Amino acid sequence: MAGRDFDEESGLSVVVENLAKPGGNSGARFRPGFILTHMSGVREPAAQEQRRKTFYLETFGCQMNVHDSEKVVGTLVQQGYRQVETVEQADLILYNTCSIRDKAEQKVFHRLADYKKLQSQGKKFGVLGCVAQQEGEKIFERAPHVSLVCGSASYRNLPQMLVQLENASGPAERAIPRAAGEVAALRDDAFVEKASDSGLRTRDLIRITGLDDRQTDKCFETEFTARTNPHRGYITIIEGCDKFCAYCIVPFTRGKERSRTSDSVLLEARQMGDLGYTEIQLLGQNVNSYKDPAGKRSFAELLAAVGEVPGIRRVRFTTSHPRDFGRDIVDAIDAVPSLCDHVHLPVQSGSTRLLDAMQRLYTREQYLERIGWIKSAKRGIAITTDVIVGFPGETESEFEQTLTLLEQVGYDGVFSFKYSPRPNTPAVTLDDAIPDQEKAYRLEVLMAKQRELQIIRNKRYLGMILEVMIEGRNEARQQWIGRTSQNKTLNFLASPQAKLEPGSYVSVLVTGSFPNSLVGECCISEQMELSVHPSSMIAP
Ligand code: 5AD
Ligand code: SF4
Repeated sequence: MAGRDFDEESGLSVVVENLAKPGGNSGARFRPGFILTHMSGVREPAAQEQRRKTFYLETFGCQMNVHDSEKVVGTLVQQGYRQVETVEQADLILYNTCSIRDKAEQKVFHRLADYKKLQSQGKKFGVLGCVAQQEGEKIFERAPHVSLVCGSASYRNLPQMLVQLENASGPAERAIPRAAGEVAALRDDAFVEKASDSGLRTRDLIRITGLDDRQTDKCFETEFTARTNPHRGYITIIEGCDKFCAYCIVPFTRGKERSRTSDSVLLEARQMGDLGYTEIQLLGQNVNSYKDPAGKRSFAELLAAVGEVPGIRRVRFTTSHPRDFGRDIVDAIDAVPSLCDHVHLPVQSGSTRLLDAMQRLYTREQYLERIGWIKSAKRGIAITTDVIVGFPGETESEFEQTLTLLEQVGYDGVFSFKYSPRPNTPAVTLDDAIPDQEKAYRLEVLMAKQRELQIIRNKRYLGMILEVMIEGRNEARQQWIGRTSQNKTLNFLASPQAKLEPGSYVSVLVTGSFPNSLVGECCISEQMELSVHPSSMIAP
């Protein structure tokens, strides 16, 4: 996928993890060494004992999916399952899937086909997430060895579904036990069925579904969350989407918007701060339409409150919708230093006519007005965006308008995608499809243009001192890998005497720049730089 190639190059973490790039996180696996964050605030090591039931989980897609998986793992561990690293070791094999574009959707079917033969060893397969919601029971037809299909809006029913799955794994002839009231507990749409069609052995066709909860008001809140990164963690503040952009499948797969109370979000943030996390990323399909069910805080107020949680040095949020993006968010960034110098504001197109066809609910001018707010902030805020090329009816001159927008805004990163028709979306019935070759050409032109712009933009950082959070080390290059508040990758050298490790914050002098990353030298150690402000950007 072109968007992904671009992303992989760019080195922005937003690239790997951004909600805006759901196809890009293919194949993320949680290693068993996660940290279980308990809602009581106790950090528990992953249980070491050999448990009876094992599971393997692979995650595709956006940050929202990655974080859902952290909660799914927490749920499974609480149910007595043990996570393993390979499909071969697992009793239960789960895929948390993405359907934002066609290619993302196909990945799960490839995986299911690859491992079908393992069914004869008694392994069970489950499909979770957006493909589950979108394809529903059709998955059982296409991959009859799948036993569980569950969309994200039904995850809170997972414990009951797991019980059903276990109870249903007896001999073929045995009636599947169903506790009194069980169906009601799972809502009417969740059921266990012992299918006997299609010529396969009956016991291979246990079918459990949780699909029709898209009207739910409830969020997926778990007692345990299995966070894999000990320094940076996600918190979902809003699930679902009510926008119904013409091309987008998300409102159909993730259901209607539902926000968590700001108190509950803050409780989780404080627990994470207590546990040593220093960076929090607030997640939602559209965080700007966050509405505190208790009516206590707006999104900007919640953002500011999370930024003031003791121990939290960085707060990010994604993804924003320009229509709902308020000036108060910029005011919050101005007022609270721990709010990162980065806003991801997907534009999709630079043409007002096309924006209208996409049902984006804003014009080019209104979008630029928001960009003006961001640019008038006291700190320099990096801006990134998403663009779709080849939406039905996009003329050459409309595409040109997107190119001029890139210049006008001066983005720090652009995630660009070829339009991919998605089932049930309004755009799927539109005429004037753009041939794939033309879409590919436009994508190439756009990426080349943005690359040139990024070369220029990144040069501005030369000679500046930026604070980074260390994410890892590239031994081959003898470089540390850091991330700046602007969400840029900054690879740097440091003397072996400097006691650096992932998670620590250091100041780095930028000595070189590439289109998608910066390079530098560590100039101040963590101990020495205590007086340096967390999100400072200092010209030497
Ligand atoms: N085709 C191509 N790109 C899409 N996106 C969403 N739906 C589609 C689609 N049908 C892109 C948008 C969005 C990002 C998450 O994915 O740019 O912002
Ligand atoms: Fe999809 Fe539009 Fe909702 Fe984003 S705002 S998830 S693009 S429908």
